[in-house]
Amino acid sequence: MARWPYKIQKLLSLREVDVDVLQIIKLDHERIRGVLSQIAGTDKVTERRRLVAELEEDASRHFHIEANYLYPEVSAIYTDDGGFFDERQTSHKQLTKRLHAVSEMLRKPVSDHVGFEKKFDELNQLFDDHFGAEERVMMPRVRQFMPTQEREDLGQVILDVKEELARELTEDRKPLLKNKKKA
Ligand SMILES: [Fe+2]
Repeated sequence: MARWPYKIQKLLSLREVDVDVLQIIKLDHERIRGVLSQIAGTDKVTERRRLVAELEEDASRHFHIEANYLYPEVSAIYTDDGGFFDERQTSHKQLTKRLHAVSEMLRKPVSDHVGFEKKFDELNQLFDDHFGAEERVMMPRVRQFMPTQEREDLGQVILDVKEELARELTEDRKPLLKNKKKA
């Protein structure tokens, strides 16, 4: 069996039991929170670059799953969402844009990194808003109105999508690793 990175192993081990979709989303949030706090805790440029690249990857997969698999399902339990799901889409766009700006800054020479902390603090705040809206507003409602079986079925779908995305990523990286060995 392929040797998966730790985070994938953790997800695969979740498959032994039925997993509530909300647990999966919470686990994603915890992981992103962890990367954000590692970025906040280092002033080494190489570490910042590595961690921000990791954050971009994790966040883009998380947003993809939410926008395409989670929101379409859970929006059905909102009779009047009061613009909640439009706000979610806007939040994804803003976060992606700000994260890209931080990543672009880090690609430049260190002398151009003035203002990184401020940019990163704003990004961190936006992520906090994202987590808050989903964990404190959306999740309790989903838990209340979506039966456990449906939450577990959706959890299964999302685990399958994650597995597929991880496989694609591993395949994409193979040629890069081969080239690296030759160099
Ligand atoms: Fe989220």
